[in-house]
Amino acid sequence: MSIIFDKNNKTFTLHTKNSSYQMQIDPYGFLLHLYYGRRTEGCMDYLLTYADRGFSGNPYDTGADRTYSMDVLPQEFPHTGLGDYRNVACTVVNADQSRCCDLRYAGHEIRKGKYFLKGLPAVYADESEAETLEITLKDAVSQVEVALLYGVLPEADIITRSAVVKNGGSDTIYLEKLQSACLDFVGGDYDLITFHGRHCMDRMYQRHHLAHGTARIGSRRGTSSHQYNPMLILADPETTEDFGSCYSMTFMYSGGFQAEVEKDQFNQTRALIGLQQEGFRYPLEPGDTLTAPEVILSFSTDGLNRLSQNLHSCIRNHVCRGKYKNAIRPILVNSWEGAYFDFNGETIYQLAVHAKELGIDMVVMDDGWFGKRDDDFSGLGDWYVNEEKLGESLGHLIERINALGVKFGIWIEPEGINEDSHLYREHPDWALSIPGRKPVRARNQLVLDFSRKEVVDAIFNMICDVLDQGNIEYVKWDMNRSLDAVFSRTAKDQGMVAYDYVLGLYDFLERLTQRYPNILIEGCSGGGGRFDAGMLYYTPQIWCSDNTDALDRIKIQYGTSFGYPVSSMGSHVSAVPNHQTGRSTTLQVRSVVAMAGTFGYELDLGTLSEEGREIVKKQIKEYRKYAQLINYGVYYRLTNPFEEEAAAWEFVSEDGSEALLNVVMQDIHGNMTVDYIRLRGLIPGRMYRSEESGRLYPADALMQTGIPIPVEYKAYRAYQIHFVAE
Ligand code: GLA
Repeated sequence: MSIIFDKNNKTFTLHTKNSSYQMQIDPYGFLLHLYYGRRTEGCMDYLLTYADRGFSGNPYDTGADRTYSMDVLPQEFPHTGLGDYRNVACTVVNADQSRCCDLRYAGHEIRKGKYFLKGLPAVYADESEAETLEITLKDAVSQVEVALLYGVLPEADIITRSAVVKNGGSDTIYLEKLQSACLDFVGGDYDLITFHGRHCMDRMYQRHHLAHGTARIGSRRGTSSHQYNPMLILADPETTEDFGSCYSMTFMYSGGFQAEVEKDQFNQTRALIGLQQEGFRYPLEPGDTLTAPEVILSFSTDGLNRLSQNLHSCIRNHVCRGKYKNAIRPILVNSWEGAYFDFNGETIYQLAVHAKELGIDMVVMDDGWFGKRDDDFSGLGDWYVNEEKLGESLGHLIERINALGVKFGIWIEPEGINEDSHLYREHPDWALSIPGRKPVRARNQLVLDFSRKEVVDAIFNMICDVLDQGNIEYVKWDMNRSLDAVFSRTAKDQGMVAYDYVLGLYDFLERLTQRYPNILIEGCSGGGGRFDAGMLYYTPQIWCSDNTDALDRIKIQYGTSFGYPVSSMGSHVSAVPNHQTGRSTTLQVRSVVAMAGTFGYELDLGTLSEEGREIVKKQIKEYRKYAQLINYGVYYRLTNPFEEEAAAWEFVSEDGSEALLNVVMQDIHGNMTVDYIRLRGLIPGRMYRSEESGRLYPADALMQTGIPIPVEYKAYRAYQIHFVAE
């Protein structure tokens, strides 16, 4: 039993292999949070303290007890209206416009298996792998009900949370704020780790100590965004990659979000994550419900590497779905950086010819094959193959490519629309825009109103017509701008549109994956502008960044690795000088970096020299040899590339019998000092042979003192060493 209800002290305890989570229904019916941390037994309500706290209000039924205040007590689902002046999880506006709710325990249910969320992605598990706890809270005046959902996956060390709000009353109410999870800590000494960024510099790592006030990140862009990733980590200040306690909250949602971490007046910490509040005002008619997207929680006492490993296996095994879930993905070459919009069918065919010779599995025809699309000013929305440009039908091109023994993939951007398109001329109102005002353009395009079913259906049909034209085995789903005029012509209330847009997107993706179970879908949004666990439910890999520069990619992939597995990170070897930075690195460096992802190429293969072709062939062989270890082994960050000149990471097999060490030297100096890279995860006491040199190394020395990186006076050197236990 991983979920236990103790009738005597009214506690719920959720146990995973290494963590416990506890809450209690107190005498007034409030659901208080007691504990989340290292696995333990027993009741932790001794952690609740009561003191007379001036200026902190007391719920009416606590009478003259001035020590009982929601402003101080740790809670599971704090809400507006009970005197909690901290950031709350939920604000209900009643029919009389009062902002108030008083949620008390009304019942609970413990079930086998993991709950599902209607219309939203959620962690899934077999009946035997998970349990669900549903606690119902109710407001006696308005009859508003909240079902708090907890999913426990003991072996995965994962707890999930969601909340379903129901209007059980007889008048329309509005939700003004809805967060999916709250973690209250009675202590206040934490570091906050978040991942900020921008287009082409996605998910930069940042760690800082929490001070009084609220640290807030989020996205108002309608997508999860390049600017902040929807996840956070709270760590004890002394926590490192290998030691110490840390917690993660991953929001499984692809739209606007917010996360607030507050250190309050009594040095307590509250962390909340959920839907973006700005612009959100969701009406609920009597009987209606609204579901807060899921949050994935994990806890580690063994540092950040373990926390990330928990998240990696959760995402690989309980989020990603479909044929490619645990399969090695095809090595692909994408046409974008090699040809941009300037190609025809023969260009793509020739790419496939080179691909075949080099051992690449698939060619992907990126943007530019449909409508009138020779630049980004026109064509989006016209999902008809431009046979004139290709010089042949899509079916014919695919047949020619397949005949070479090469697979074929295609790029789409279903949510985008250009004003210069047939679709826009026919349905200008299908674009999100405000009547009577000029829209904000970005990349010369607008966004379709996916909160409307007829729009989603129409685009779905157009895309299916294309996908039915031949043996398409991969789709790159792009989304190249942020939402701006979040205004829908048909919405009952504009406060619903941003959320309903994301439901429309998920509905489309769900139908697409059902109809084409054999197609591998790679998500993309100007690279990693929508890199989140919600998208990974439909697209098991996401183009990690529009920046393919190997040195920048090290930092981008390092940040991404905190929350997401290597098998989810689209990563390609591109041409030099790099198109985003102008930097030149060797094919070896580019390949080692791309091998920390799904591995592929993104350049005109025809421009490779004979020597380059031989190197590429060798890289592909090497990738195939290590692909299982890379994608499904245990991933360790060995250094912090923001602070150290050696960027190092390692893949270790589950049983520790082999390890692949990867090192890129990011800098070069005169009379270099020697970097020793310490390995992790090897079996103590065993000897490991380096496949390259044949030399034997003791595991303990490799983990304690490390392995010296050769001193070579060349910029940006990369090393890959495969160790096998004897
Ligand atoms: C986005 C993607 C790129 C490419 C272009 C095509 O920027 O991230 O990889 O597909 O769109 O327009």
